[in-house]
Amino acid sequence: MYLSKHQGGNAVSTADHFDPGEAKKWKKDVLEAYLGVTLKRLFATGPDAFEEIYQRLKQFTESLAATEAGNGVTVAQEVPEDAGPQALPQAVLDTVTSLAFAIDAKDHYTQGHSQKVSAYAALIAEAMEMSDAEIDEIRLGAVLHDIGKVGIPEQILNKSGPLNPDEWETMKSHVVFGAKILEPLKPLARIREMVHHHHEYFDGSGYPEALRAEQIPLGARIVAVADAYDTITSDRTYKKGRSAEEALAELERCANAQFDARIVEIFVRVMRQQANPIIEVASLTPSRNS
Ligand SMILES: [Fe+2]
Repeated sequence: MYLSKHQGGNAVSTADHFDPGEAKKWKKDVLEAYLGVTLKRLFATGPDAFEEIYQRLKQFTESLAATEAGNGVTVAQEVPEDAGPQALPQAVLDTVTSLAFAIDAKDHYTQGHSQKVSAYAALIAEAMEMSDAEIDEIRLGAVLHDIGKVGIPEQILNKSGPLNPDEWETMKSHVVFGAKILEPLKPLARIREMVHHHHEYFDGSGYPEALRAEQIPLGARIVAVADAYDTITSDRTYKKGRSAEEALAELERCANAQFDARIVEIFVRVMRQQANPIIEVASLTPSRNS
């Protein structure tokens, strides 16, 4: 991530001294810088890291909105909640995406997970003939699905053995942290729903709200299938990744109980048409193998 010269610290409070025309760009730089510093430190995850990043995102989105209002151009508060990612500055989207990748990178065994889930989810959205904007939204929602893990203490996140019941409850809270961290980014309302509900089960036995069937946002149902497929086919500390065919059979077995059967059916059909049905992260991001 680009780190600007403004990374020094208290420069934020001097925003009003800037020419409003320059201020918007400057604030983007500062946003990147502050969060960039945080990511560069590769913070220990946990409630403190969550709070720090949440407050920064909140502060800077409010700051950007104030600048736009001052310019008399677009008042960000008036952007409808369903406006989608394109209503946000690219720097903000880059920042949350970088955060998701940084969380992935903390665990070699889930490295690339968010990107692969995103690629699988986009395949489903395309097969469902969604619009380009909807597909892009699914793609981003899938990248961000586990962003709330920034709020989970590292000893739980990276524990090699099974989690005890208390640790498991803590781990489950990543969906709530995820929804919370995206709260300041109002145009991402649908993506926030995907993040919040990607562990709901179709039969109502999932979390955090035990939603069932169509009560679960469509994007969350898509991410759930893509997430499970990547988890089954990837190596973990405690297991070897299974084959695409085994994973697809497992998804079919859990259709209706855990997953939306219609989405599983679409995914299975699409994956059986792929020459290589298991996406390698290296093919998505060649530079991340260092
Ligand atoms: Fe998750």
